[in-house]
Amino acid sequence: MGKDGIKFPDNFLWGGATAANQYEGAWDVDGKGASVPDHMRGGDINTPRQIDVEFDPNALYPSHEATDFYHHYEEDIALFAEMGWNVFRMSINWARLFPTGEETEPNQAGLEFYDRVFDCLLAHGIQPLVTLSHYELPYHLAATYNGWADRRLVDLFLRYASCCLDRWHDKVKYWLTFNEINTGTMTMGCTLSLGTLKGFTGTMAEVRDDINERYNALHHQFLASAKVIKYAHETYPDLKMGNMDCFILSYAATCDPADQLANQDEMRRMNWYCSDVQVRGAYPSYARRFWDENGIKIKMQPGDEELLREGKIDFYTLSYYMSSVVGTHGDVEQGKGNMVMGGRNPYLEVSDWGWSIDSKGLRFSLNEIYDRYQIPLMVVENGFGAFDTVEEDGSIHDPYRIDYLRKHVRDMGEAIEDGVDLIGYTWWGPIDVVSAGTGEMRKRYGFIYVDKHDDGTGDLHRSRKDSFFYYKRLIASNGTELD
Ligand code: BG6
Repeated sequence: MGKDGIKFPDNFLWGGATAANQYEGAWDVDGKGASVPDHMRGGDINTPRQIDVEFDPNALYPSHEATDFYHHYEEDIALFAEMGWNVFRMSINWARLFPTGEETEPNQAGLEFYDRVFDCLLAHGIQPLVTLSHYELPYHLAATYNGWADRRLVDLFLRYASCCLDRWHDKVKYWLTFNEINTGTMTMGCTLSLGTLKGFTGTMAEVRDDINERYNALHHQFLASAKVIKYAHETYPDLKMGNMDCFILSYAATCDPADQLANQDEMRRMNWYCSDVQVRGAYPSYARRFWDENGIKIKMQPGDEELLREGKIDFYTLSYYMSSVVGTHGDVEQGKGNMVMGGRNPYLEVSDWGWSIDSKGLRFSLNEIYDRYQIPLMVVENGFGAFDTVEEDGSIHDPYRIDYLRKHVRDMGEAIEDGVDLIGYTWWGPIDVVSAGTGEMRKRYGFIYVDKHDDGTGDLHRSRKDSFFYYKRLIASNGTELD
């Protein structure tokens, strides 16, 4: 037992997580097609991102260069190794392999890029953990098919995903199908997750939403995920296939039973609906009433229910950034949040972007999830977006990030002591990347600073922040050296 009673398992996975569209850049290089974020401009905390059908030559699209992992992967992976990582969560950009999503054969140059990345990782003793779809729908499928509202995407996704599994099954053991699939339960999900953008120009805040269409689009993602998992289990039985949910714990504002019921509803819709399907292989008992009361008719076809049963996940993964509050008395102040606005909790501090900081909520969430499903868990995103200042000597002091990390690791350790089977932790944006929500660069999560700014300037050089050295020490002690 280490300090503070924390003991992480010996084979615990420590690392970081990124997404191709926020990190790779090279958006049209070597045959890559555009994905949805490539059509999005930058915004900020008060200005929602604009989505363009046609590119405006005078506008800036932050994902086009991002922080250029495409041309810096060797340097970056060496830095990850220096921190002592044994896992790196990354995504494959669907449009790098299938530029429009419709091709029958993959783009060779795209395949070769990921060959090089995986080989480089493995040479450094870092295993890749791959998300097949992290907000990277080929834009063509959004613009002409209306994204996941079209059932044909199920088989297009299977073509893409099986190509990845066939090529890299011996290099990648852990796979996630859809990043934060539960964002599809919210209007917000129409953009990055479901891509129901046919003909749409406007901001993320204006995106049109039809709840029936949205829940059917989500149904198609469940089917696509299940098909890929079934294929993986039948073809490569050693692989571990996971989901990924954006877990936003909510607390009832008071002990008024009405608040408790409202919060139960929120927890089901936000956090349990998707994982109940993906872990248990069937829609939960509460779904029917929710559909009826919201005018949702899932277009269930013969074989769908069987497929969901056959495509259950092996391990559960989540992103965890914050928590929120739900009440019925109209006096809960609204705060900002990760993909969704939530009630503000007076007991918690918030980041510069208004996200609450709640490490105990992570412990609570891990216990709840593990009690419910009893399968291994992994925290594949957790992190703190902040303004960083580069000192004259080039150093970057980020005690706020270290503090956030320390608290969350401590509470993960507590959850393990509580009995949760937690197998890994990947910090979000361990190197500065473009923000998904706002498209900003100045909202930085990294332990590694990248000289890239909101106006597109910067020479992309990398430097280590104080948190880099802290995380290195933390990993070397397997989570026991927290102070
Ligand atoms: C998660 C996403 O919602 O949160 C990431 O999976 C995202 O893609 C991360 O970057 C942090 O959100 P943001 O908006 O600060 O980038």
